[in-house]
Amino acid sequence: MSEANGVQSATQGDALENLLQENRKFAPSEEFAANAVVQANVYAEANADRPAFWAKQARELLTWDENFTQALDWSDAPFAKWFVGGTLNAAYNALDRHVENGLGDRVAIYFEGEPGDTRTYTYAQLTEEVKKAANAFESLGVAKGDRVAVYLPMIPEAVITMLACARIGAIHSVVFGGFSADALRSRIDDAEAKLVVTADGTYRRGKPSPLKNAVDAALEAEGHSVANVVVVKRNGEPIDWHEGRDQWWHDAVESASAEHTPVPHDAEHPLFILYTSGTTGKPKGILHTTGGFLAQSAFTHKATFDLHPETDVYWCTADIGWVTGHTYVTYAPLINGATQLMYEGTPDSPHQGRWWELVEKYKVSIMYTAPTAIRTMMKWGEDIPAKYDLSSIRVLGSVGEPINPEAWMWYRRVIGGDKAPIVDTWWQTETGAHMIAPMPGVTATKPGSAQVAVPGIAVDVVDELGQPVPNGHGGYLVVREPWPAMLRGIWGDPERYKDTYWSRFENMYFAGDGAKKDDDGDIWLLGRVDDVMNVSGHRLSTTEIESALVSHPSVAEAAVVGAADETTGEAVVAFVILRGNAAQDEEIVTTLRNHVGKEIGPIAKPRQILVVPELPKTRSGKIMRRLLKDIAEGREAGDASTLADNTVMQQIATSLKG
Ligand code: PRX
Repeated sequence: MSEANGVQSATQGDALENLLQENRKFAPSEEFAANAVVQANVYAEANADRPAFWAKQARELLTWDENFTQALDWSDAPFAKWFVGGTLNAAYNALDRHVENGLGDRVAIYFEGEPGDTRTYTYAQLTEEVKKAANAFESLGVAKGDRVAVYLPMIPEAVITMLACARIGAIHSVVFGGFSADALRSRIDDAEAKLVVTADGTYRRGKPSPLKNAVDAALEAEGHSVANVVVVKRNGEPIDWHEGRDQWWHDAVESASAEHTPVPHDAEHPLFILYTSGTTGKPKGILHTTGGFLAQSAFTHKATFDLHPETDVYWCTADIGWVTGHTYVTYAPLINGATQLMYEGTPDSPHQGRWWELVEKYKVSIMYTAPTAIRTMMKWGEDIPAKYDLSSIRVLGSVGEPINPEAWMWYRRVIGGDKAPIVDTWWQTETGAHMIAPMPGVTATKPGSAQVAVPGIAVDVVDELGQPVPNGHGGYLVVREPWPAMLRGIWGDPERYKDTYWSRFENMYFAGDGAKKDDDGDIWLLGRVDDVMNVSGHRLSTTEIESALVSHPSVAEAAVVGAADETTGEAVVAFVILRGNAAQDEEIVTTLRNHVGKEIGPIAKPRQILVVPELPKTRSGKIMRRLLKDIAEGREAGDASTLADNTVMQQIATSLKG
């Protein structure tokens, strides 16, 4: 590590932790800074006129069929229109134009399956596959504006499906494969999807794992909108077949024509819906449109990761079922003509060095993952990554939850060879793309802080009354001005959009996160201030899990809290009161965990379910989750003086001891 750039030396091992202070900073090396895509002057330019800055990015990074005439129309706030009058095709921008520009032989995707099978798609090949899929979907009756549910593992067909939808103007709604049949059905119903694209299954920890059975179960009850199910053959396991409804991908797509003309769509044409957990039971269908989403996605991907598409190999480990997989696997890398790695499986299959083996094999230079994964790798031990050549790595990204300084330092030292800048990126399903992140060639990075707004983005930390907090103080994270990749609403529920994001503070977007400005004015994210939990970077709603629990006949009442967890950030802990006639035995906990798995999905299963006689409530009947969180985190419960019945905490403590 170089001392010359004002960079402090980090010593190895335990001493490191003691050295950690907020004032540690790691400036980019001179060489990195000199070759960086984004230079310091970008901030002044962007902040002088944000819509003009984004208009410039949109023109430079995207190819438009019809030029837009206005960067931003905010007259119907909080419903934004970006790049008014412009038309473009997302799939053309991600694929065809690169082929037309002579990049057809560049690798778009290196795919590595969990069992070790590999596939490589050049831009020319991926373009052909997407054209075929677009033809196949159209011949199944899918037209512009129709919704397509996508329930696929991390295989290239996921990207192909999304881009084929975008090409014809159909709106994809990807549902994470870890969600249950019930959760899939409610998302299919809400969006009234016409087509479902799935696979027979995938592989998990060396074994085939089914997927299509959940689609069958989801569509079992009558009254749904789905006409066809297209099934990718992935693991070859036997599946049920519904004649007339089900089609094999290899029949429908492989036989389709490879000629397909991309029609231009309006900049504000819907691109996708992605469901995410909110503070109420029902997941929200976050709606994103085309031009603004693509412009900010492409810009941030280039700027935050310092992408040099001719030489970099980029790898984002996120599943396609989350927004990170949408923006930074399917869209931005391909819009930018990058070469990326896509991996199907788990990091410990067949061994705990699998990720690092892949980095070595593909010479990955930009890696983007979540703190929970980094903490898991830390637990496995640094001798595992030490076995592989990680010298290709030059930028490391983090997303999804706050990264603790210790994990940040480990990531930089062990994976980044003490030289790769760490870019901690704060954003949300709703924001569509990065909002707070250092620029790796400009910002001196600071362990644990996402630091500064992305150029062209106006974020702030405000107090209860919406006044900006001074440096050194905490408050609520807000966005002060519209941004191109912002959500355009909640599918079918414009009022909920206004209530959730625009009613807390006047003229500001309320993100739902707590944040602090440190003495330098750098922003630290402090976690959610609402009833949303963050488990392994996955967003879960306490209310949704509570509703799942009380839908079981044995449960009278339930309260769920997110308890701090060393590896997963937060873990789900549930307190339940059983109905009088329900047997309180060992099995009830397993039964209830499985019930949550069925209602929502395995990711939502509580780590712990505690059966209690009462729940702590205020006189107005509100559950005091703060006290339950104390118990879940193994602390003495705090001030209980506002409880309606002040013996409740004692009753709970006694019952848990017993
Ligand atoms: O609480 C913040 C946390 O994840 C939430 C958004 O979750 P989701 O919509 O699922 O998107 C995750 C991937 C973008 C935020 O409200 N979050 C996301 N990134 C960070 C973060 N918290 C701290 N630091 C981050 N870098």
